[in-house]
Amino acid sequence: MTQRLCPVWMGYVLLNPIRRLIENPKKLFGGLVREGMLVVEAGCGMGYFTLTLAHMVGASGKVVALDIQEEMLSVLRKRALKRGVSDRIETRLATDDGLPVQDLFGEVDLVAAVHVVHEVMYPERFLAELTRTLKSGGVLLLAEPRGHVKVEEFEESVRTLLSFGLREEKRYKDLSSRISILKR
Ligand SMILES: C[S@@+](CC[C@H](N)C(=O)[O-])C[C@H]1O[C@@H](n2cnc3c(N)ncnc32)[C@H](O)[C@@H]1O
Repeated sequence: MTQRLCPVWMGYVLLNPIRRLIENPKKLFGGLVREGMLVVEAGCGMGYFTLTLAHMVGASGKVVALDIQEEMLSVLRKRALKRGVSDRIETRLATDDGLPVQDLFGEVDLVAAVHVVHEVMYPERFLAELTRTLKSGGVLLLAEPRGHVKVEEFEESVRTLLSFGLREEKRYKDLSSRISILKR
C-alpha cells in the first residue's frame, strides 16, 4: 500500500457535515448526474459523495463504489443501509494492482475520481482502467485537493486522461479543489 493512503480515522473526518460548506456534493455533481445512470466512484472512502450520487441516480440507477480499504467500504455499506439506498450501491474492493471493473468497460455514464489520484500507487493504470469503463459520451470528473496536490501533479493527471482520448469540457477551481470534467 502507498504511504500516502488516507487513514481510516480520516475517513470519518471526511464525513463531517461542515465539509458541505466548502465542498457540496450536490453542487459538484448537479449538472452531471441523471436518474438511471450507471456511476463509478473510485476512492469513495466512507461515502461522503456516494450517498448523494445514489440519491441522484434514483431507484433505476446504480453507483459502483471502489476503494482499496475494506474498512472504508464497510462503513459506507452501513451508512447506505441507514439512508435506504443500499440497493443502488455496489461496493468493490480495489487493489494496487488494479480496479475490479472489467465487466463495466464501455458501460459507464459517469466516473467520479475525487481526492484519490494523488494516493494511487500506479496513477496511469488507474486512470486508464477508469477511462475504459466509460461509454461513448460518458464523463469523468477529476477533483484533487488544492491544499496538498501541486498544480503540476493535477496537470499531469489531466494530460494522462487526454492522452487516452478524452477531451476536456470544463476546468475550474472551488474553495478546496481543482476540478476537470472530461468526456469520452
Ligand atoms: C482522501 S480519501 C477521499 C475519499 C472520498 N473520495 C472523499 O472525498 O471523501 C481517498 C480514498 O481513496 C482510496 N484509495 C487510495 N488508493 C486507491 C486505489 N488504488 N484504488 C481505490 N481506492 C483507493 C483510499 O482508501 C481513500 O478511501
